[in-house]
Amino acid sequence: MAEVVVVPDPDTGGRLAARTVLDTVRRNPEAVLGLATGSSPLPVYRALARLIAEEGVDVGRVSGFALDEYVGLPPGHPESYRSVITREVTVPLGLSPDRVHVPDGDPARADTAGEAYERALAAAGPVDVQLLGVGTDGHIGFNEPGSSLTSRTRLKTLTEQTRRDNARFFGSVEEVPVHCVTQGIGTILRARHLILLAFGAAKAEAVAAAVEGPLTASVPASAIQLHAHTTVIVDEPAASRLTHLAYYRHAWANKPAPQHI
Ligand code: GLP
Repeated sequence: MAEVVVVPDPDTGGRLAARTVLDTVRRNPEAVLGLATGSSPLPVYRALARLIAEEGVDVGRVSGFALDEYVGLPPGHPESYRSVITREVTVPLGLSPDRVHVPDGDPARADTAGEAYERALAAAGPVDVQLLGVGTDGHIGFNEPGSSLTSRTRLKTLTEQTRRDNARFFGSVEEVPVHCVTQGIGTILRARHLILLAFGAAKAEAVAAAVEGPLTASVPASAIQLHAHTTVIVDEPAASRLTHLAYYRHAWANKPAPQHI
């Protein structure tokens, strides 16, 4: 079962996840990080940037793989996930740009972008820590409801709900691309440790469905139940629909090892 950690606010959750990422990099300076976009992982990146600077950690050989990319945005579009990852992760953390990978969203290569990305991931080795957000419809990466639980990186069509959710980053819903290239659920599950972050009441349903099931392709995030090492970091509103909330709090408070995910 996933470990669920309820935090008072997103910044506390961000610090907890950042400490784990940093410990991973200290143990392995060539660690491979799985990077998520969206607002949920931003507190992790902010905390990580601070810790790297304060503790003088060398991240020059760390590599990163983004989960997904829109298809068809012009190169350099500020809301392409390539741009977002550069702005929120590569630059503030001081990663080497040539070690940070994002699926190719060029429509001319959309058919083969998935396979190419799988090859790059396989060459880099398994992802050590994979950060994840969750969509209000239960998607992870851009694996919309119905995505195969064994899927690999591929071209997908976004749901209208996701396009509406993400319209806030664009001028209007019409400007949100219809297609994306996303790591598959099977791809995501190959990472050694999954950390899913969700904050706010809008995520409460998706969090409960992901953590407490049933396991179903209709809720792609429920695939975390198949993984032996998943940590779910939520604030009180996002945790509010969990049935076994009292147990998660009890387990965290009585964790045999120090409070570390
Ligand atoms: C997008 C991303 C997902 C992310 C989701 C939730 O659809 N492709 O990876 O998890 O948004 O975003 P947010 O964290 O902003 O709620």
